[in-house]
Amino acid sequence: MIKFSEERLKKVNEIIARYPEGKQKSALIPILHMAQDDFGGWLDAPTMDYVAEILQIKPIEVYEVATFYSMFNTKPVGKYLLEVCRTGPCMLNGSDDIIDYIKEKLDIKEGETTADGLFTLKPAECLGACGYAPMMQLGEHFKEHLTKEKVDTLIAELRAKAKN
Ligand code: FES
Repeated sequence: MIKFSEERLKKVNEIIARYPEGKQKSALIPILHMAQDDFGGWLDAPTMDYVAEILQIKPIEVYEVATFYSMFNTKPVGKYLLEVCRTGPCMLNGSDDIIDYIKEKLDIKEGETTADGLFTLKPAECLGACGYAPMMQLGEHFKEHLTKEKVDTLIAELRAKAKN
């Protein structure tokens, strides 16, 4: 059954308390982030229903937000989500080549996950780090000035990390 830990529930209640009575829906985005982090990196219907229950709002209100913002995954993703920016400045600096290289290297298409469940490739819109183009987001980190060599190193490191 989906349920935040006691510690996380405390945090959830802290976030809700930041907003005036009856405006608890304003806490939806941070709580969806927590749910995504805690329940496998993506939001399935039971998870979104649980968030709706916590906030005492309708499930559809949660689905609308979760499906609108690209930072929420409504399909399963791999252990490592490679979100490669493809907006103007990154594209001009070779993001298409980086995306093609990752597709070839991991033998997946955009939006797909490798058979071992380790990597998902997800093209993203501008992540606000245009000065470091081409770049990708990996969890809470940005990987900048990407080259094929850097992609090779990153994937090798992540594969090694996954084994430990
Ligand atoms: Fe890629 Fe802005 S265009 S970070």
